[in-house]
Amino acid sequence: VHSLLEEKIRPYIDLIDTLRSVGIHKDLALPTIAVIGDQSSGKSSVLEAISGVALPRGSGIVTRCPLELRLKKVTGVSWKAVISYREKKTEFVDSSLVGNYIEAAQNELAGKGVGICDELITLEVMSPDVCDLTLIDLPGIARVPVKGQPDDIENQIKRLIMQFIEKQETINMVVVPCNIDIATTEALKMAQEVDHEGKRTVAILTKPDLIDRGTEKNILDIVHNKVIPLHKGYTIVKCRGQQQIDKKIPLEEAAEKERDFFQNHDFFRDLLKEDKATIKCLAVKLTQHLVDHIKKSLPHLNEQIKKQMWDLRNELKECEAGPPQDPKGAKKFLTETLTRFNDQIKSLSSGELIIENNL
Ligand code: GDP
Ligand code: NA
Ligand code: MG
Repeated sequence: VHSLLEEKIRPYIDLIDTLRSVGIHKDLALPTIAVIGDQSSGKSSVLEAISGVALPRGSGIVTRCPLELRLKKVTGVSWKAVISYREKKTEFVDSSLVGNYIEAAQNELAGKGVGICDELITLEVMSPDVCDLTLIDLPGIARVPVKGQPDDIENQIKRLIMQFIEKQETINMVVVPCNIDIATTEALKMAQEVDHEGKRTVAILTKPDLIDRGTEKNILDIVHNKVIPLHKGYTIVKCRGQQQIDKKIPLEEAAEKERDFFQNHDFFRDLLKEDKATIKCLAVKLTQHLVDHIKKSLPHLNEQIKKQMWDLRNELKECEAGPPQDPKGAKKFLTETLTRFNDQIKSLSSGELIIENNL
């Protein structure tokens, strides 16, 4: 099932990456998944488990700048990453250095300490072991400023989060710990504010191992969409706790432990069969959401590209009289390339590759 999924989504992800690389995202927001939630709700833990990329994690404000994590499944290569921000671009091959590079970047952009900053850090990871996903980690919502933070830190963080989640093309992944009252979750309220119908909001419940006895039924009701219904529903996951991190339990082992946890749980066992539990299940769902989203955006992209082609053709007409060397050949080449590109987009947006039914 997994390899089939990858085969089907590859053309869409590649297309979006091509568009990004030619700079189309400057005019048009391309689909991505933004991760939002209160501080210490488990955002970075979920991202880490999905990506296999060891992100800085812990108590307090750890994520201080938006971090775009672009995961690319590339077979036949060993792990490689490129971190970029401002004009800087650094390639590295030691996956244990991710945290150091991100921290150094944050210190440079937001200053040392507890400040935040809205400049984007991009981390591109190429590896045979990741899913094709692009995710954005954002600073967590903090209600009470800590020493060294401005009084309006909560509003600063909310404004920053808003910049990302208000875009129609963004899938909002709201992370909520099981052991708090979901109705009071600020991040879920913000997501609902910008997405009334809940069409692009996905909710993740974390820390199921930390709930109080007697609250299991409430959690089940939430996961079954009975409390705050969301179009795209809920997934419950168990990530590594601080103890497991301190003991350096590898992610694969943590995934096995996660499965055992649900398998042996009197109340949550059935959620495995219902495809509502585990990180692995979440990763597959997210990929599917992303592809659906890209497909929806394609007709709009198609229009934009047509317009750009039209403008380009007109420009080319103007060049006809003068240089460059062999203008005729160059024009023919460019027009053909653009036509081919446009055809590709058209065939993708007309849904020639129907994927939902084949999974
Ligand atoms: P963030 O601030 O939202 O990015 O939260 P982090 O990912 O940094 O997690 C905060 C703390 O919660 C860390 O110590 C994690 O180890 C812990 N944590 C995250 N998910 C779980 C979980 O499912 N179970 C347990 N027991 N601890 C978790
Ligand atoms: Na944290
Ligand atoms: Mg974090």
